Amino acid sequence: MRSLKEAELKGKKVLIRVDFNIPMDKDNEIIDDTKMRAALPTIDYILDKGASLILLSHLGRPKGKPEAKYSLQKVALRLAEIIGPRVSMASDCLGPDTLKKVEELKPGEVLVLENVRFHPGEEKNDPEFSRQLASLGDLFVNDAFGSAHRAHSSTAGIADYLPCYAGFLMEKEVEMLERVLEHPVSPRMAILGGAKVSDKLGLIENLLSKMDIILIGGGMANTFLKALGKEIGKSICENELLEQARQLVEKAAQKKVQLILPEDVVVAEEISADATAKNVNAEEVPDNMMILDIGPRTIEKFVAAIAQARTIIWNGPLGVYEYPSFARGTEEITKAIASSSAVSVIGGGDSAVVAYNLGLEAQITHISTGGGATLEFLEGIRLPGVKACEESRPSSALPGAGSHQEASL
Ligand code: 3PG
Repeated sequence: MRSLKEAELKGKKVLIRVDFNIPMDKDNEIIDDTKMRAALPTIDYILDKGASLILLSHLGRPKGKPEAKYSLQKVALRLAEIIGPRVSMASDCLGPDTLKKVEELKPGEVLVLENVRFHPGEEKNDPEFSRQLASLGDLFVNDAFGSAHRAHSSTAGIADYLPCYAGFLMEKEVEMLERVLEHPVSPRMAILGGAKVSDKLGLIENLLSKMDIILIGGGMANTFLKALGKEIGKSICENELLEQARQLVEKAAQKKVQLILPEDVVVAEEISADATAKNVNAEEVPDNMMILDIGPRTIEKFVAAIAQARTIIWNGPLGVYEYPSFARGTEEITKAIASSSAVSVIGGGDSAVVAYNLGLEAQITHISTGGGATLEFLEGIRLPGVKACEESRPSSALPGAGSHQEASL
């Protein structure tokens, strides 16, 4: 990828795509700004070099038109709290008012543009929309690894009209994920959890050629257990994938990958804070109960395996960790990864939340800010946002780059 360090920034208007799609509560207050803070090294660097910043992001999934609850206003306010009063906001990402604000922007200042998904062109990666966005800046920095799996105008299309550089977060994410996927030190381990196997079929396929050990827990383990003939009571299960799960177990054996499933589990009649939990063998789940966590023998076995690993990739909780009765498996595994000397990568989402909640984030080599993007990367898919940074062309070859006068949609 073309690094931001190569860019001439002084006096330039830099268009940056960040992934500020952060969790908000029902009153539209920010729950967690980790993804914003992850982009600060890039933002600070660009401002320190004497450039001004025009910031693009999406928030939520509006359907191509403005919706108040998806406004980036709160996000812009939080950014101002973090980096100071030089942050302002435009109420659209295009149009005459935005253009005026862009024109007036001075070095060291930041203009946050309103949600790019308020325009239908964004998700269609419409070339005209991409060109109009590109006309706002002199160069494009993509630091939105979390959105890099989307082939949208602001994540990929702009790079057809402006030279594109990878931001530091984008660089770090790609470097770390490549390190554990393409150059891992053995023993190489993946730990997979989460509710569904269907979300992770491509991932398991890819990891079968790259890992030595795969530990499986969470709801997705149920489908494997049932595929191997175990009684799983009323646990969630993807019955239509039983055959595929069986084939994956066979493939693992052929490739001499140890695919390890829970041998005991925590069960209850319902998912609730006061449900009575008990431990049973994985083949003895009563009909009226469901599997909600891995059991103590499985935890012991997984923890021992983790201590031997030199490379660890983890994605997805191993139980319904939101309830204390079913959180132990996920928490113990997080602690084991944190105490291991392996290169460890947590693939975003719920697993990352657990590491932060336990205050163990500093002991993990890398916690990805991507959810879907990280999964697709680990599946071996070339992400459009990464491709844009890799295939960047010099500005002279690009039509209409940095014209500052086109944004009139
Ligand atoms: C994410 O939160 O995973 C990214 O911001 C992508 O969001 P999306 O799934 O709505 O494209």
